[in-house]
Amino acid sequence: MSQLQHEIAKRRTFGIISHPDAGKTTITEKLLLLGNAIQLAGTVKGKKTGRMATSDWMQMEQDRGISITTSVMQFPYKERMVNLLDTPGHEDFSEDTYRTLTAVDSVLMVIDGAKGVEDRTIKLMDVCRLRDTPIFTFINKMDREVRDHIEVLDEIETVLNIQCAPITWPIGMGKAFQGVYNLYKDTVHIFTPGQNSVVPDDIQIQGLDSAEARQQLGDDVVDELLEEIELVRGASHEFDLDAYLRGEMTPVFFGTALANFGIREMLDYFVDWAPAPIARQTNEREVAPTEDKFSGFIFKIQANMDPKHRDRIAFMRVCSGAYTRGMKMRHTRMGKDIKIADAVTFLAGDRSNVEEAISGDIIGLHNHGTIQIGDTFTQGEELQFTGIPHFAPELFKRVRLKDPLKMKQLQKGLQQLSEEGATQLFMPLNNNDLILGAVGVLQFDVVQQRLRDEYKVECIYEPINVNTARWVECDDERMLEDFKRKGAENLAIDGGGYLTYIAPSRVNLSLTQERWPDIRFRDTREH
Ligand code: G4P
Repeated sequence: MSQLQHEIAKRRTFGIISHPDAGKTTITEKLLLLGNAIQLAGTVKGKKTGRMATSDWMQMEQDRGISITTSVMQFPYKERMVNLLDTPGHEDFSEDTYRTLTAVDSVLMVIDGAKGVEDRTIKLMDVCRLRDTPIFTFINKMDREVRDHIEVLDEIETVLNIQCAPITWPIGMGKAFQGVYNLYKDTVHIFTPGQNSVVPDDIQIQGLDSAEARQQLGDDVVDELLEEIELVRGASHEFDLDAYLRGEMTPVFFGTALANFGIREMLDYFVDWAPAPIARQTNEREVAPTEDKFSGFIFKIQANMDPKHRDRIAFMRVCSGAYTRGMKMRHTRMGKDIKIADAVTFLAGDRSNVEEAISGDIIGLHNHGTIQIGDTFTQGEELQFTGIPHFAPELFKRVRLKDPLKMKQLQKGLQQLSEEGATQLFMPLNNNDLILGAVGVLQFDVVQQRLRDEYKVECIYEPINVNTARWVECDDERMLEDFKRKGAENLAIDGGGYLTYIAPSRVNLSLTQERWPDIRFRDTREH
């Protein structure tokens, strides 16, 4: 194995999916603690968008340092290099989450042990299913009175349609929680309370039916657990690594993120079993992570992450080869070679200039408006990675300025914020309106506040008669020109320069589709 291959094999790039409040932020923090990326828990503040008012969310967002620490986190753990990509919990940010999930190789699913499978988890699992992403499961909050565990496993199997293979099993719950039992190693892992913010002790006893375990846990607990484990083995599946890698089976771990227990017991397996960087599909061919030549794609863009520098960062998943500082890359959509000397990396949550990054890593490129979500960069080959879509927005508003002299600022702000992909800007062909489209309502408030804070523009929204948008394509140039002339009143150019049909109603859309059968109206856009 070459040095590069060896390094790639060490990478574990993943994201966490969960319903808001299941404990994603708390687990992230404890993972960073275990990876020595932070010294004391309590230093990572999450964006708890799930149950926050917009203003709270904006307040937290204003400290842009938070976003960066939670966007991408890299830390070493046991000979491996772990890349954790944040996925926003709030459903109004689901597009961002969707695209982030295109950039990972596996996923950790967090379930609240008291609640079981919840809405958001079901939706996010659907996304993972599209690519058969391998999934680890952590059932959280064992320090509380939670639901019957076998029942929760059953729910995961039936609702999420994935086989469960418990690796650890909780010993008691709530106030009586004493630790976890490893079904494969026959080891008892003892929970010590009061270690919420430090790396917890690792106390292990070999053998559940041992004198030491009986002394520690008590005979009653051991006897009950022995019986329960019998039942669990009968009711669940035996772990099969290949089935996990195919996305058909999930290893399940129990613990409490808040009280900081059970996560190491999971992470030790995660770095072992989770896949190293996998091959990625392009329009031409599959790209293997071990290829010598560099390639990568942009899955996320964030503007003004650091208000002092007012920069825009494009997050790139490296798919093959290595980035080295100062190298030339081909921006294939633009057909241009560019020299990149100042890509940033996210080691231990700090942002620093990166000398080298390899398959599986995430680097940040400074974007001056030329980079779009979905763009591919290579070392010369004309490739385009596929499967990183924009979705047609469902909600639309016309944007008006309070101070008409600030038009340029407004356009710039809307354009730059739309690059992030959460909102989309549409400019009609036959008037000067600026129409903002979004998938969730929260986005409108966020844009309004960010325009004020980051671009010093006050805007107001007005209702507009647009119901849905479709990206328009046609192989016949003449026909497209004809369509543009006749349908101009409902056509716009989006922030990426693509022709879009903005339909006043569903009926109008279907009638137009019927009238123009050779024109494609797409509800997702890829390059
Ligand atoms: P999220 O990112 O998935 O939205 O969840 P987050 O980690 O923010 O956790 C949501 C709430 O659940 C928080 O409580 C957190 O402290 C709590 N929590 C997380 N893990 C556990 C656990 O293992 N046991 C128990 N009992 N609670 C847990 P909060 O009161 O809403 O917020 P905070 O004031 O504690 O920050």
